[in-house]
Amino acid sequence: GLAGLSALGLSAPAAAAESAPRPDGASFPTGFLWGTATSSYQIEGAVNEDGRGRSIWDTFSHTPGKIEDGSNGDRANDHYHRYKEDVGLIKDLGAKAYRFSIAWPRLFPDGTGAPNPKGLDFYDRLLDELLVNGIEPYATLYHWDLPQALQDRVGGWRSSDTSKAFADYAAYVAARLTDRVKNIFTMNEVGRFLPFGYALGIDAPGLTLPPAEVNQARHHVALAHGLAVQAIRANGRAGTRVGPAENITTCVPAINTPENIRATEVATREFNSGFLGVLLEGKYTDGFLAYAGADAPKFTAEELKIISQPNDFVGLNIYAPQTYIVASDQKPGWKPLPMPGSFPHMSSEWLRIAPEVIYWAPRIAAKIWNIKSIYISENGTSGEDKVQPDGQIYDLDRIMYLRNYLAQLQRATAEGVPVHGYFLWSLMDNFEWIFGYEKRFGLYRVDFETQARVPKLSASFYRDVIARNAIGV
Ligand code: NOJ
Repeated sequence: GLAGLSALGLSAPAAAAESAPRPDGASFPTGFLWGTATSSYQIEGAVNEDGRGRSIWDTFSHTPGKIEDGSNGDRANDHYHRYKEDVGLIKDLGAKAYRFSIAWPRLFPDGTGAPNPKGLDFYDRLLDELLVNGIEPYATLYHWDLPQALQDRVGGWRSSDTSKAFADYAAYVAARLTDRVKNIFTMNEVGRFLPFGYALGIDAPGLTLPPAEVNQARHHVALAHGLAVQAIRANGRAGTRVGPAENITTCVPAINTPENIRATEVATREFNSGFLGVLLEGKYTDGFLAYAGADAPKFTAEELKIISQPNDFVGLNIYAPQTYIVASDQKPGWKPLPMPGSFPHMSSEWLRIAPEVIYWAPRIAAKIWNIKSIYISENGTSGEDKVQPDGQIYDLDRIMYLRNYLAQLQRATAEGVPVHGYFLWSLMDNFEWIFGYEKRFGLYRVDFETQARVPKLSASFYRDVIARNAIGV
């Protein structure tokens, strides 16, 4: 475990050292929730066990040419069998919360119809293990592993039948698991899986539909969210809390003058109208509908009411800036600036380094939609993570990234932005979708041959942040 790092002065400091001044930045609010995150297809493996049905990611990852290193999630982290060890890793960090996802095809192998009790048993065991170890579970219902049967029968999110099937699945989870899991995220990153899966053909199910059908599919996902919120309220224990976990399209003021900040707020609202906006406002913006024109989604007033059920919190996955904004004299009053090719990034090319994004995104979201409770449902980075001759991984780039992002998050909380927790992506290296196992995001390195988990230096960093509820800047 982390004990191996004691030679580096990373073990518990002696009492004298503890009283010496440390260059700590200001603290996070009392009770701030520190966690880590994973998802089912990325870690579980055991794809043919205990009656699990096939998901669209099984099909997609087994399609030649789709995954960069030719890998798939058949075995992944073998978490299905090693979940006890993995809960131990969370505990070693001192983290108080864990965000994981439930594989819909384990519970409903056919997408709808009869539930598979053996599939539920796994989450029963996982929840018990988490609670015994004092870790608060946060479950995501949809982290992209749609039952293949629904894709085949109705075209996945192209049909509102999938929205209804999702509500039934949510009702079942609520009835069976909310005695132990009190917090549920509905959808993970619609802003990724919808365009990449339905328009660009890059993610599962690999479709390249025209804009009108893409917009309609996104509307069905929003509807599924709303129906699921209703189903959870109707079937879950009192006090169950629910909300989305969305990769909000992040807009940042290029220079933070009042005009640019205002322009960035307006831009954020427009860029996010298709999902977060319609959830939180109960309507698509005029700008969104005008831009879509004839391709706008078809909807009823009743659907908008369902979609905009009140949420208990909003989860934001924050990694990179989408666009920098300046105010403009021209309509619509704001202008997105092109990203220079030389903008620095982490080992994942899309992961441009802009710590201020984790300050602006929750601040702006809270303001434009009057959100009372935000969780950073994901933040983290990939890295090279080379194992050194001494067996350790000194991931100084990840520590640099986390230190800077967390300092900006602390700044937001200090200004009163209602961010109540943070889930670091990820607990351990895992199947990074189209990038396979080459892109490592974990605090723990995973050797996918032996399944050994080794803490990286960043695990010690995060453990220290959690212990002090503060980040040294
Ligand atoms: C977002 C996704 O939710 C997660 O599945 C993915 O691994 C991370 N970002 C890193 O790309």
